[in-house]
Amino acid sequence: MAAIDILADAAEKANQDPYSLPLDKINVANPFLFARDIHGPWFKRLRDEAPVHYCAESFFGPYWSITRYEEIIKVDTSHDIFSSEPAITIGDTQESFHLPMFIAMDRPKHDEQRKVVSPVTGAENLRHFEPIIRERTIDVLEQLPLGETFDWVESVSIELTTRMLATLFDFPFEERRKLTRWSDVATAIPGMHIIDTEEQRQQELLGCLEYFTGLWNERVNRAPGNDLVSMLAHGEATRNMPPLEYLGNLVLLIVGGNDTTRSTMTASALALHQHPEQFEKLVANPQLIDSMVAETIRWQTPLAHMRRMCKVDTQLGGQHIKAGDKVVMWYVSGNRDERFMQNPDAFIIDRPDVRRHLSFGFGIHRCMGNRLAELQLRILWEEILQRFARIEVMGEPQRTVSTFVHGFTALPVQLHQL
Ligand code: HEM
Repeated sequence: MAAIDILADAAEKANQDPYSLPLDKINVANPFLFARDIHGPWFKRLRDEAPVHYCAESFFGPYWSITRYEEIIKVDTSHDIFSSEPAITIGDTQESFHLPMFIAMDRPKHDEQRKVVSPVTGAENLRHFEPIIRERTIDVLEQLPLGETFDWVESVSIELTTRMLATLFDFPFEERRKLTRWSDVATAIPGMHIIDTEEQRQQELLGCLEYFTGLWNERVNRAPGNDLVSMLAHGEATRNMPPLEYLGNLVLLIVGGNDTTRSTMTASALALHQHPEQFEKLVANPQLIDSMVAETIRWQTPLAHMRRMCKVDTQLGGQHIKAGDKVVMWYVSGNRDERFMQNPDAFIIDRPDVRRHLSFGFGIHRCMGNRLAELQLRILWEEILQRFARIEVMGEPQRTVSTFVHGFTALPVQLHQL
């Protein structure tokens, strides 16, 4: 089937009632379920009736869905049974353009490469970043119009996360929107507005490699700095990487730090608009900002899933999973598991155990940037509360067409003066 027909078929199938289908015909790997925000009942059915579920036929081939909280943690922490290689999204990488990156590697290489770059989000760097993030946040917020509709995604979420990324890479600041483009290109489905074909993706990402090779060459002969390019160029486990592995790790660090935090910034504005009583609680007690941020990260779940490959025959939830099977951990479902928290569909900013969510994963691949993302969100809301009485959402959010990036492409809002 041509790509356009596959998308049309998926768009049509997303309209089905999940409870009208036989269990073995359920396929949750449909980007339109997420783009239309109608995935909830599909996952609820799987959690209740088939928490370890086999889908024999899909655009991505056969795969298992893991949808309950407890079993997701089991898979995410059983590194000897479930491998992160060769890829961590449900879609397979193209053999002719495989980009190795440490999120999609097992031990020991994963640990060695992660160690090279992890200081970028360490406690010392975060202390150093805090005033920079605050200054930029204020700068962006002060330029927003009052009482006029504008796009929160474009003007706030993308702008702030792109500025942060440029800082992490020590990337030429005036060219920072290149990073936004490469992030979008890396995760887009061909034919859905951003890119038309896989070939276009490859061309643009090779452009990214060329640009970053220039930065590498500049920094490799200088004293080691604490930006990501310098860390990779000097790190023992990364300094001899082949070019496509350099590109793979760049894509990981660009996408990892960008789409996810961007989606959380948008989700926080949306959730607090949709739940005015929670917003009032926040205004009355700004000490709740940290907890509100954690609740937003659970409620939104910016990455819907991570995938693994089963390495040895194993049992899970009474099912027999064979070596070579693809296993998808749906964080977006585990975070709404009624067995793990009460009233999981509600947005409650002062929930007990609010940080026990799955959105950052578990085990050796647990998100490397979680503290940085939370810091950016905390500062954003501290500064919003000092300036605006309310962020009013003026229309329907536009959501990303993807089974992986669970985010937004637009959110029209108006700001109200304090
Ligand atoms: C709300 C924001 C974020 C969310 C929801 C998020 C989510 C995730 C998830 C689910 C994983 C995989 C966990 C697993 O497989 O167990 C991950 C890994 C990763 N994240 Fe994040 N992330 C966020 C922000 C960031 C930021 C700001 C950075 C910036 C540096 C970042 C960098 C990474 C990296 C490098 C990995 C790979 C870690 C490894 O394989 O060892 N993330 N993230």
